[in-house]
Amino acid sequence: MQQLAAYLEQFGQRFEPRLEAALSRRDHDYTPDLLAALKWTAMAGGKRIRPAVLDLWCNVAGSARPATILDAGVAVELVHTSSLVLDDLPSMDDAKLRRGRPTCHLEFGEATAILAAQAQLVLAFEVLGEIDAFKRDLDAVPTLARAVGVEGMVGGQHVDLYLDDSVRDLKALEYIHRLKTGALFEAAARLGVRMGDGNEDLEELASAYARNLGLAFQIKDDLLDVTGSEEELGKDVGQDTAHATFVGRLGLAESEEIMHRLLDTARAAAKDAGKSGPLLAELCDYVGTRKQ
Ligand code: IPE
Ligand code: IPE
Ligand code: MG
Ligand code: MG
Ligand code: MG
Repeated sequence: MQQLAAYLEQFGQRFEPRLEAALSRRDHDYTPDLLAALKWTAMAGGKRIRPAVLDLWCNVAGSARPATILDAGVAVELVHTSSLVLDDLPSMDDAKLRRGRPTCHLEFGEATAILAAQAQLVLAFEVLGEIDAFKRDLDAVPTLARAVGVEGMVGGQHVDLYLDDSVRDLKALEYIHRLKTGALFEAAARLGVRMGDGNEDLEELASAYARNLGLAFQIKDDLLDVTGSEEELGKDVGQDTAHATFVGRLGLAESEEIMHRLLDTARAAAKDAGKSGPLLAELCDYVGTRKQ
């Protein structure tokens, strides 16, 4: 895991200031809390896995990455951060801790947290829409939008909260995971390929990789919800027992097995990913073994 750790470290050093800059664009004379809330969860040290997936898929062909690759990652991470702020609300998972800090609504109040999440989400599209490479690629913004909307993260979160347990079979669980978590991974990989000027075949390969990695990522998240600790994860544990997950339905061992199968499929796609292949494969190992 040496290579991946070094890559993520280096990537983070370039990425964090870009994210901070995007979040610092605006000023507000009367209620500085909104701006502070925008940064509160966003700048609290997430793993930045989705922007890294985007960056690695851009680099598949090995050509120089455009400088704006970081901004595309910022857009994806802003979508993700907004989803976390909403996911933690009392009306959703009612969480107290996120990325080692009190959740946004506990720190700033519910109304500010909701407004901050909205601001993060629209900022994502502002940043994405400004990227030169995407001005020629009119499908970039809708690609990210679809990953967020009713057939993406928002829809997945809603089904996750409200689908009756009695009809929550494996097919339904896979659907929920694919929408609430997989869709954003998939969009990140697709946007990366587009920024690297990859062809449609490569985009399909990237999409298959990310779809499987994303599903595995959520199963691991559900496993850690049972086996992990608050100190290590920096967020609440024991949250998802109320509604069934793969772990709730199948138990730890079988869920692990399914996760490993998904990671094997993602690894197979990484084999054809040229220069990025080894790191993308290592990312699969990381997702399977992570403790955070
Ligand atoms: C947590 O995502 C939410 C899920 C979709 C499982 P991450 O585990 O990537 O959280 P951060 O960004 O590192 O905090
Ligand atoms: C959240 O799933 C998926 C999102 C789109 C945010 P979880 O509710 O399991 O995520 P955590 O465990 O709170 O990070
Ligand atoms: Mg949730
Ligand atoms: Mg949650
Ligand atoms: Mg979870």
